[in-house]
Amino acid sequence: MKRITIAIDGYSSCGKSTMAKDLAREIGYVYIDSGAMYRAVTLYCLEQGLFHGDEVDTERLKDALPDLNVSFRLNPETGRPQTYLNGRLVENDIRTMAVSSKVSIVAALGFVREAMVRLQQQMGREKGIVMDGRDIGTTVFPDAELKIFVTASPEIRARRRFDELQAKGEPGSYEEILENVKERDRIDTTRTVSPLRKAGDAVELDNSHMTIPEQKEWLLAQFRKAAE
Ligand code: DC
Repeated sequence: MKRITIAIDGYSSCGKSTMAKDLAREIGYVYIDSGAMYRAVTLYCLEQGLFHGDEVDTERLKDALPDLNVSFRLNPETGRPQTYLNGRLVENDIRTMAVSSKVSIVAALGFVREAMVRLQQQMGREKGIVMDGRDIGTTVFPDAELKIFVTASPEIRARRRFDELQAKGEPGSYEEILENVKERDRIDTTRTVSPLRKAGDAVELDNSHMTIPEQKEWLLAQFRKAAE
């Protein structure tokens, strides 16, 4: 079997990360959550007071970006990768509603995307990688041997995110989350730089009514086909 690059793109909260992580563990590949990188930059902007309402102080962010270090290290207990911002563990801080409601704004900035895409391409130089995001099959790895495009209805995605937050003991209203999911879909698909879209050669997976084991089987079959 050859070592390949696997690009998993799709809408927010449709379970991309869980499936990408599980697949990577199963086949012994590196997993990179590209959304976590945009979230880490957003956390930085919030902490440094670079937001003025829904506007980002782009001049200050441009100055700061070259020194911002976003990296992933494995949690020794769970074996799962965790996100670090300038050496600080921010895995939980980047998943709050505060970050979720601002991240699309940061992810729409061309200079931020350029910097993140460069980093992502470096991380994938050796292949043997599963990366999930919005533009992985179209922009980051247009030559990836396996591209998956995941979809699920907004209501199902909002329910999943709501359950996730509840499990963590974080308050959140289903209606608010549903609005956030729809708003992010709108921004992600209509932005001028690298909008979310299915690559021509991507395989589509609508997992609205699929169980995790069913999804896993489907993915492994796709992997075997692409890597043989
Ligand atoms: O997958 P996620 O919800 O953690 O992504 C967070 C945000 O980052 C989301 O609004 C879309 C954006 N994103 C992006 O524009 N490009 C990527 N490759 C990954 C995420």
